[in-house]
Amino acid sequence: MNKIAVCGKGGSGKSAIARLLADGLRTRGHRVLVVDADESNTGLHRMLGFESPPSPIIELLGGKQKLEEEIEARIRAGESEMTLDLMREEMPISKIPPEYIMETDGIKLVNIGKIMMALEGCACPMGIVSRSFLKKLRLEPDEVAVVDLEAGVEHFGRGVETSIDCVLVVVEPSIDSLEIAEKISQLSSQIDIADVWVVLNKIASEEIAARLTDYLNQRDIGIIGSIHQDPEIFESCLEGRPLKGRVAAEDVSKILDFLFP
Ligand SMILES: Nc1ncnc2c1ncn2[C@@H]1O[C@H](COP(=O)(O)OP(=O)(O)O)[C@@H](O)[C@H]1O
Ligand SMILES: [Mg+2]
Repeated sequence: MNKIAVCGKGGSGKSAIARLLADGLRTRGHRVLVVDADESNTGLHRMLGFESPPSPIIELLGGKQKLEEEIEARIRAGESEMTLDLMREEMPISKIPPEYIMETDGIKLVNIGKIMMALEGCACPMGIVSRSFLKKLRLEPDEVAVVDLEAGVEHFGRGVETSIDCVLVVVEPSIDSLEIAEKISQLSSQIDIADVWVVLNKIASEEIAARLTDYLNQRDIGIIGSIHQDPEIFESCLEGRPLKGRVAAEDVSKILDFLFP
């Protein structure tokens, strides 16, 4: 178990949970790499205590334009978007060039890239770069990667999930969030990922937790844990400080007990 992805609806708490997982894993003695693979959100580096994000992996591979051209050419030549791989060599953490990786408080961060592209007929380079990077990323037994995935379900079925050991789908108390979890769970049953679990987040009462649990149980979707609504998280996000949340951190610790017995 060393590549864990966090996904779910935008705003459900993916980045906050990625940060808490990273913290909890470090406390347990793991060496932690956080992979920011959410192209549309920019707050993760701040939650982790970095002033700015590292240079994007997309640049390491030649930049957005060159990659788009390469992807188009290779698809025209008959390669499938689903399996196209942009990285030739395996990538242990020690081989990532220094400008593409940062470390603070014992947690490392890489950033896939922040680009939006919706050209018709062209594959999204972000998804392909994320997949290539995660596939080639070689981790030592004591290393864990926590991947903050893009909101929604776009990555699933595009192969990003195939090099991940465990997917945590964050569900906040909203029907949209539940529906996205349901969709991810359906997709993942078709494509064979090792483990998919829901994490309930922003839980303010037992009653709300019970309602979400009912909904998910009826659909056979497993729940790995539940994280309280924690005003400390809200506060640190508002102020742009490194994220703190002692109550939520304890909840996350129980999830880690389960994942790393
Ligand atoms: N357990 C929690 N308790 C209180 N606020 C939370 C919690 N989890 C997330 N939040 C708040 O929800 C907002 C969205 O969280 P974020 O992690 O950025 O979501 P995402 O990465 O899924 O878009 C943030 O303002 C954060 O303060
Ligand atoms: Mg986020």
